[in-house]
Amino acid sequence: MSRSCFLTGALGCIGAWVVKHVLDRGEEPVVFDLGDDLRRIKDLVEPEDLERVRLIRGDVTDTDAVLAAVRESGADRIVHLAGLQVPFCKADPILGARVNVVGTLNLFHAAAECDIERVVYASSAAVYGPDDLGPGGSAPNEDTPLNPTTHYGVYKRANEGNAKVFYTDSGISSVGIRPLTVYGVGRDQGMTSDPTRAMKAAVLKRPFQIRFSGATDYQHVSDCAATFLECADKAPEGAHIFNLHGESVDMAEVVELIRENAPEGADGITVDGPTLPIPPGLDGGRIDEVIPGLPKTSLADGVRMTMTHFARLRDEGRLDTRDLEE
Ligand SMILES: NC(=O)c1ccc[n+]([C@@H]2O[C@H](COP(=O)([O-])OP(=O)(O)OC[C@H]3O[C@@H](n4cnc5c(N)ncnc54)[C@H](O)[C@@H]3O)[C@@H](O)[C@H]2O)c1
Repeated sequence: MSRSCFLTGALGCIGAWVVKHVLDRGEEPVVFDLGDDLRRIKDLVEPEDLERVRLIRGDVTDTDAVLAAVRESGADRIVHLAGLQVPFCKADPILGARVNVVGTLNLFHAAAECDIERVVYASSAAVYGPDDLGPGGSAPNEDTPLNPTTHYGVYKRANEGNAKVFYTDSGISSVGIRPLTVYGVGRDQGMTSDPTRAMKAAVLKRPFQIRFSGATDYQHVSDCAATFLECADKAPEGAHIFNLHGESVDMAEVVELIRENAPEGADGITVDGPTLPIPPGLDGGRIDEVIPGLPKTSLADGVRMTMTHFARLRDEGRLDTRDLEE
C-alpha cells in the first residue's frame, strides 16, 4: 500500500523544504496552508515539479476543515508545521493560542478520527527558558524541566503535553521535534531569522543589523525538513519528544562565515541586541539514538550553500527582499 503524508504549514520555511524532499522522493505531497504564496517552494523546486503539489487552502483553527482535509487526503501520516512564530504570538497571544494550540489539537483530533499512523509536529527549543540547563550548566536534554518565558514556548509545551494524552487516550503515536535556530533559504520571519537575512543582505551588499547576540544552535533547514520526514517514516510507537542539535556557535563566528562567502558584502553586517531567551545549545543525543543516520550539514557548508543559492536567485532577478525592508 502506498504511504502518504499530510503536511500543514507547507508554504513556510521548513514546510517548503519538506515539500522539496517529498517531491525528490517521487511522491505527491498533499499540503494544507492558510496562505497561497508559493514563493518559498518556488525557490527550491522546478516549475514542473510544483504541479505535483496538491494544495488545500485552509485554517488549522477550523476543526471541521482540518478533519475533512485529512480524511479526503487518504494520508497515513501527518507532518504538522503550521504555526505562528514568537513575535506574532507576542503581538497577539490569543490568536497565537488558537493557531498553535487549538490548531495542533485539531490535527490530533483528525488523526484520531482517520486512520493516521503517526503525527510528527513542530515543537520548539523555546519550551526551555534561558536558565533551563543540564547538570553543571550543560546543554538541556529532554528530561530537563521546562520553564518557557514566551507565550510561544508555553504553547509548544502545551502541545507536547496534549500529544502524550492523545497517545494514552486514543493510541495516536507522535513525535514532537524541537528545533532552535533554523537557517537557510526561505527563513525570512521569526525571532531567529536574522542570521539568514544577514546572509541575504551580504549577497546584495546591503547593510543589515542582526538583532540578537551570543551563541545559538544552528540547524540547516534541509536537515530539519529531512528529520521531520524520517521521524514520520521510522519513529517507534509512543509519544516521543526530541531535541534537535546542529552546531552551537557565537554570532561573531556566523558573521565571519558570511564574510568568507561575501567579503565585500559583510562589512555592512552588524550585531546589536540581547541574547535569546533560550539556552545556546541543546543536547540532541536522544534522536540520534532512536533515528540514526539523520543528515547533519556543517554550519560552514550550510552558510555557503545558502549564500550560493541566494546569489543564484539574485542573478536570476527573483530574490525576494521584502524581509530586508522591515
Ligand atoms: N524556523 C525555526 O527556527 C523554528 C524553530 C523551532 C520551531 N519552529 C516551528 O516549526 C514550524 C515551522 O516553522 P517555519 O519557520 O517554517 O515557519 P513559517 O512562519 O515560515 O511558516 C509557517 C506556515 O504556517 C502557515 N500558517 C500560519 N497560520 C496558519 C493557520 N492558521 N492555518 C494554516 N496554516 C497556517 C503559514 O501560512 C506559513 O506557511 C512552526 O510551527 C514553528 O513554530 C521553527
